[in-house]
Amino acid sequence: MSTKKWYRLPAILLIAATLLYGCSPAATTEAPVVPTQPPVATEPPAAAPTEAPTAAMEEPTEAATEPPAAGGASEVEIFSWWVGPGEADGLAAMVEIFNQQYPDIEFVNAAVAGGAGTNARAVLATRLSAGDAPDSWQAHAGQEIIGTYVAANQVAPLDDFFTEQGLNDVLPETLLPLISQDDHPYSVPVNIHRSNVMWYNPAVLEEAGVTAVPTTYEEFFAACDQIQTAGKICLALGPQWTAMHLFENVMLGTLGADGWAGLWTGDTDWASAEVTEGINNFATALSYTNSDHASLSDWQPAAKLMTDGDAAFNIMGDWAYGYFANPDPNGLALEPHTAFDWAPPPGTDGVFLFLADSFVMPTDTPNPDATNAWLTVAASKEGQEAFNPLKGSICARTDCDASLFSEYSQAAAEDWSGDRVEGSLTHGVVANDAWKAKIDTALGLFVADPTGVDAFQQALAEACQSDGACQ
Ligand code: GAL
Repeated sequence: MSTKKWYRLPAILLIAATLLYGCSPAATTEAPVVPTQPPVATEPPAAAPTEAPTAAMEEPTEAATEPPAAGGASEVEIFSWWVGPGEADGLAAMVEIFNQQYPDIEFVNAAVAGGAGTNARAVLATRLSAGDAPDSWQAHAGQEIIGTYVAANQVAPLDDFFTEQGLNDVLPETLLPLISQDDHPYSVPVNIHRSNVMWYNPAVLEEAGVTAVPTTYEEFFAACDQIQTAGKICLALGPQWTAMHLFENVMLGTLGADGWAGLWTGDTDWASAEVTEGINNFATALSYTNSDHASLSDWQPAAKLMTDGDAAFNIMGDWAYGYFANPDPNGLALEPHTAFDWAPPPGTDGVFLFLADSFVMPTDTPNPDATNAWLTVAASKEGQEAFNPLKGSICARTDCDASLFSEYSQAAAEDWSGDRVEGSLTHGVVANDAWKAKIDTALGLFVADPTGVDAFQQALAEACQSDGACQ
């Protein structure tokens, strides 16, 4: 699929059901968030999709509309949102390993397009409530799994699988609690991604006379003024989920790691002056973005504004690395440090805002052998070494061969073990679906009218009261 063709995907509005969960996650200072009392899910997750559930990596997503074959292991239907440029390459590499190891099981790609799973998760929720679960699906470590799928009894524990595969010995201690409930693991993590990356175009900075990459919001906004004066967009932004991604980075950079972590445990007051400052910084950051952000189809067109030299910065997770560096047709085949470069977003140096993709075993699956086969590849060193170098992520496993990875990913791996690790909101770690949906609704209103600081802050505080950790 060519990049150009992908950009022309039609936008279809999906209507997602509303969530009615409770939530009371807790956190330690070591691991980002360890859920202690998951909520009970009664409805499918809410989402505000703006993009069509279409354009799978290899074959059309016919499997997404047809139930998987019952019984036997002749095929395995795997649901993800790894479709677009940069995203599909990693999945394709892992599927290649799967095809070599399980030639008798047909891999059925049920991927649904749309970054961060905004569309895919709405489609998945509908399928799950109709009793039409795929054989396995992509799920984020943290509250997305524990506070959503485990709480709704939609996924099965994987204790035996973890023992057979020796996973307790090769997965990081930071990660295990985030995929476990009562010490039972519920998903197989394939990677670690970093949310807090500020990608930039060195030539645009140079032309605008910005001589140092900004490390505080004061410096960032001063640089933005220079960049705008030079006739360029300062900060490239895409559709709403990318605004939430920006929001989490601005809040982390303003509040610091303790302040950010406290938002999800009740230790940071959502009504505090620090949160107001974070929201003000977010509003100012929004004022420097491209005016058409809401109509961009996904994160890639926003990222490409930066690499094309129309914009200076783009704050996006490190899946962007795969898009920038992977070869044509899915990647832009760009040279790091010249065509694009990276730094932590202001105020986040020394913090690794993480998320992890993983795959689950559905409860009462008719096809456990096929799911096991997929999970075996996803868990394996070989599978993760094929997938992650193209995905821009690092292995979830601790024993991958570092020489297979880019300079960027090697540095990310060092940061993952040396930095303070905190969890992403946008990508499922710190809040369950119900809480996140309330934040998303309030954020959508604010992005449309960034003068409503008080109303936004109040809505955030209320969301924490009603669905989150605040009592
Ligand atoms: C995240 C996911 C990543 C990447 C990104 C953009 O939620 O964990 O693997 O796909 O969305 O779509």
